[in-house]
Amino acid sequence: AAGDATAVAHPNIALIKYWGKSDERLVLPRTDSLSMTLDIFPTTTRVRLDPHAGEDSVTLGGRPATGEAARRITAFLDLVRERSGRGERAVVDSENTVPTGAGLASSASGFAALALAAAAAYGLEGDARALSRLARRGSGSASRSVFGGFVLWHAGQASADEEQADSSSYAEPVAAPGVDPALVIAVVNAGPKAVSSREAMRRTVDTSPLYEPWAASSRADLVEMRAALGRGDLAAVGEIAERNALGMHATMLAARPAVRYMAPASLTVLDAVLQLRQEGVAAYVTMDAGPNVKVLCPRAQAQRVARAVAEAAPDSAVHIAAPGPGARLTDG
Ligand code: DP6
Repeated sequence: AAGDATAVAHPNIALIKYWGKSDERLVLPRTDSLSMTLDIFPTTTRVRLDPHAGEDSVTLGGRPATGEAARRITAFLDLVRERSGRGERAVVDSENTVPTGAGLASSASGFAALALAAAAAYGLEGDARALSRLARRGSGSASRSVFGGFVLWHAGQASADEEQADSSSYAEPVAAPGVDPALVIAVVNAGPKAVSSREAMRRTVDTSPLYEPWAASSRADLVEMRAALGRGDLAAVGEIAERNALGMHATMLAARPAVRYMAPASLTVLDAVLQLRQEGVAAYVTMDAGPNVKVLCPRAQAQRVARAVAEAAPDSAVHIAAPGPGARLTDG
């Protein structure tokens, strides 16, 4: 029905990271990033317009949203209302299967699903690229979860012309013929993180002497990554992703005060992956704003990698993901 839409979206894990904004309000990143959308941990979000309500009503996993989450969702809905020319408040119900706040990109699937459902409910016109730009305003990484498989998010150009700046930064799918990866996810600690990625990235840009060198090397990594994907070289993809992610964590360790997401169990998993490589398995790590470790490897080796990780870090929960689909509307 008009004014009522449900969408599902999956998280994505960046192989070339997004870390640092050039415009906070428009959520313009300083560098391009490249990710893989997953086939696990979907978020399903329903948006219904309520002509009688005086404010938005948002539940996350059946509980009323509070604090920063509620503020960000309402600010996002305000943007959709402004663009659609409609003033109704909304009832939003979101079911998230990602452990929230554990550095597993729940804001990516969350805002991608919210953007699609809200755009449909409020009758916003636009193609997938426009949807990616809209999702970006909720959370940068959400721009990538609009698409499935491997996805490139263009940083675009900050500009005095707001419309021009906004339209320059969007994601699009990247072809990767012959690449058949799995991502083994070790959830070493599913508790909430100490510093939000939003705050940590701001602090890194403002205070880390390693930030600019990392951003420059990340731009070079992206060029190599696209070439590796294009020739179907998964080992090279993994090698580039690993150095890009560890470099990002180095920029945070050098921030003042330092931001450290790695936990002892994270390092234990990193060691297990080094051991696997010595045994000839093309396994490489990436890490986000949390202690969990994601291991990229050939799909045929996923079980072996998962076993090795589970043995090394017995307190962790291990999940196996493959490339998954983009955001889509469902029947609710
Ligand atoms: C480490 O997209 O959550 O996962 O735009 O402030 O909402 P905001 O940040 P967010 O940051 C993700 C950071 C990362 C790397 C990545 O996904 O590229």
